[in-house]
Amino acid sequence: MNQASDKTEPRDEDIFWAFGKTENAVMLVDGDGRMTRANPAANALAARALPAEAPDRLLSLLPAEAWTVARETGRWAGEIVANDVVIEIILHCGEREGVAQSIVTFDDVSLRNARQVELQQRHDELQAAHRRLAGAQEQLLQSEKMASIGLLAAGVAHEINNPIGYVHSNLGTLQEYIGALFALIECHEAVLQSDDPVAGRNDVLAKRERLDIDFILGDLPKLMVESREGIERVTKIVQDLKDFSYVGRGEEMRPSDLHKGLESTLNIVWNDLKYKARVEKHYGELPLVECHPSEINQVLMSLLINAGQSIENRGSIDIATGAENGEAWISIADTGCGIAPEMAQRIFEPFYTTKPIGRGTGLGLAIAYRIVAKHCGRIEVSSQPGVGSTFRVVLPVMQPEREAATPPEA
Ligand SMILES: Nc1ncnc2c1ncn2[C@@H]1O[C@H](COP(=O)(O)OP(=O)(O)O)[C@@H](O)[C@H]1O
Ligand SMILES: [Mg+2]
Repeated sequence: MNQASDKTEPRDEDIFWAFGKTENAVMLVDGDGRMTRANPAANALAARALPAEAPDRLLSLLPAEAWTVARETGRWAGEIVANDVVIEIILHCGEREGVAQSIVTFDDVSLRNARQVELQQRHDELQAAHRRLAGAQEQLLQSEKMASIGLLAAGVAHEINNPIGYVHSNLGTLQEYIGALFALIECHEAVLQSDDPVAGRNDVLAKRERLDIDFILGDLPKLMVESREGIERVTKIVQDLKDFSYVGRGEEMRPSDLHKGLESTLNIVWNDLKYKARVEKHYGELPLVECHPSEINQVLMSLLINAGQSIENRGSIDIATGAENGEAWISIADTGCGIAPEMAQRIFEPFYTTKPIGRGTGLGLAIAYRIVAKHCGRIEVSSQPGVGSTFRVVLPVMQPEREAATPPEA
């Protein structure tokens, strides 16, 4: 034990050796503020900060208050700049064997400061790059959505054309009917204004028979209802498309009806699916789910389009929904080609596609994954080649941080 303490107690020559070797600049100063010793590091620093001057000139850089403070409290610390060199200075005032003595250490922090500035610059650059990336990602999301809408445009046009077609043809028929009704009214008026209206009664009846008014009276309301439905269908599709292309950037998530989203998404992709697949719905009970509905619609659209594209000739797509344990799920199962096990882990990679150019971008699932992850949810996949695939989107009914913010019920 004694031996150990002996070894930790430095001898004078060791201290002298260390004073000469250390890279920290140290000066000893007498009671009058005159330098008595400077180690080589202090001399080197003085040469950098005050070239062509004696090393003790470094002391003249200390503000007068440094000495007052250090004499009163024992210590002063501060920073000075000389010749672009930033020096951190610590001054200790004390006594040695009854004689006032001070020690001053100098630390050249220019390099450290420069590094810090550089680090800050790098950090700012990284932050800017991150912002740019986030913007680009948002754009990518939007452009994939637009690309899928582009793919769907032909189908949507067809969906709209169909009702417009029969509304147009109905209008033609209605015009003929109105002509006939006007002709009958004219006949009525002529008879009423004649000298013997009673005698003209048979003329009116004959005219009515000839114009097939009974048929018209039966058919006209039907045509009106059908036309109205057609216009409503067009309005609905246009509304769905508008909801769909809507970008809710920066908006808060809101409690949303996923069934409604499913229906309007189905409406948009319907033309792509209807010739390929029988679509069956097994909707369960769903609470309102806190989400960005237009983003979730985009996920559902990607899954539905993929399901449709996976079916070569004819098959079926089963859509089921349900909720349990604070989570809501939507599953979309197809009887399509399925996914080979070795490919299964790649399908969420951006630009991974097995489809020809123009049909696949390889972004659908990558973006769907990102959207669902942002909602703190997950996408589960099970698939068997040649049999079909099931994609299941699971979302928390309430977003986690919101849940924490909700006060406990009284
Ligand atoms: N329902 C599905 N059935 C079979 N394969 C699928 C299905 N959904 C996705 N895939 C596979 O995953 C790949 C990536 O899908 P996605 O990201 O939507 O891109 P894209 O549809 O543009 O190819 C598809 O090319 C396909 O090979
Ligand atoms: Mg796709």
